[in-house]
Amino acid sequence: MQRILVVDDAEVNRELLYGMLRDDYIVELAQDGDQAIEKLKKYQSEIVAMLLDLQMPKKDGFGVIAKMKENGWLGRIPVLVISGEQAAEVENQCFEMGVSDFIHKPFEFSIVKNRVRNTVELFACKNQLEAKVERQMERLRKQKLIIQMQAEKLKEARPFNDLMMQYSSAIMEVETKLRILNEEFSLKYNRNPFESIKSRLKSPESIYEKLLRKGVPVTVENIREKLSDVAGVRVICSFPDDIYHLAELLISQDDIILLKKKDYIRNPKSNGYRSLHIIIEIPIFLSSEKIYRKVEVQFRTIAMDFWASLEHKLKYKKDVQNAEEIVKKLKDCADFIEILDYQMQGIRDEIDRTQE
Ligand code: GTP
Ligand code: MG
Repeated sequence: MQRILVVDDAEVNRELLYGMLRDDYIVELAQDGDQAIEKLKKYQSEIVAMLLDLQMPKKDGFGVIAKMKENGWLGRIPVLVISGEQAAEVENQCFEMGVSDFIHKPFEFSIVKNRVRNTVELFACKNQLEAKVERQMERLRKQKLIIQMQAEKLKEARPFNDLMMQYSSAIMEVETKLRILNEEFSLKYNRNPFESIKSRLKSPESIYEKLLRKGVPVTVENIREKLSDVAGVRVICSFPDDIYHLAELLISQDDIILLKKKDYIRNPKSNGYRSLHIIIEIPIFLSSEKIYRKVEVQFRTIAMDFWASLEHKLKYKKDVQNAEEIVKKLKDCADFIEILDYQMQGIRDEIDRTQE
């Protein structure tokens, strides 16, 4: 049987409540606030609810609630105030302090029984859920720690460092190819096909996490074979047609192998994401051999990049309020951006024509 605590200075009330509840619970009795706190300390986790009178000698009901709050018990033990107090302010004050229910004296046998039962059941569910979330959080914390430790180990391993060096060389090769195209373009057409390049090498932590997600062991071979975004290059263009032009020029170079192309500009994702992704293999020349390494190149316009950075923030923030509304607003922005990109491109064409 579960344990319940009844706190009232009037013996007759304690007797009444005891009689009502003793068939369903082990009933502990206290005749003032201090005794109540003592019983709470003694039985702590066993007490599933407390029935509390407000006006009592020594420590009154408010004092008990305040003490419970201070000790962090109020989130776990529901308090049902039983009081002859009729003023709405007092009742409000109790709820503001965190009590679960307020029952007016004189009380009705069945009402007290039902309200106590409902509150106990509700809190049991709430406590179970909270404990479950806490267990899951703890698991995640442990997992994160393991990932950090493994990532540290990876960083020390020679073959891993060799591979990372190869990926950063592959990034340099791609960047150089793009810069050469940019130079040529600005001479030939007097404009630059891209605004900027942002490159990044995937961190050991994300490499580890991604392989775990894919369900494959973390080995240097699997990093090389199963991941295609260890080396990432992002090319930010002004206009959509520059994206296709530049990507085509890069892919058609005879030392580059195109492995995969995902056109999220012609086929945007449902959230509004638009970019052109290609995964290529590019040769790098080491002292004793030529090896191919994969690079993920993302092409997007300035406006699409602006959008993607903000959207990325939403994805990695937990507990965002009005997330659904923000998703909708972001989708609207993506639609505006599509119109904007093509309008700007049209204006650029008009200006170019008048210059001819
Ligand atoms: P990942 O496992 O996330 O790499 O996805 P994927 O391997 O299925 O490839 P995809 O081409 O869909 O995405 C590759 C990368 O593009 C991601 O890692 C992100 O950097 C970027 N990306 C893809 N979709 C989105 C999106 O909806 N929003 C934003 N902000 N970035 C995205
Ligand atoms: Mg990826």
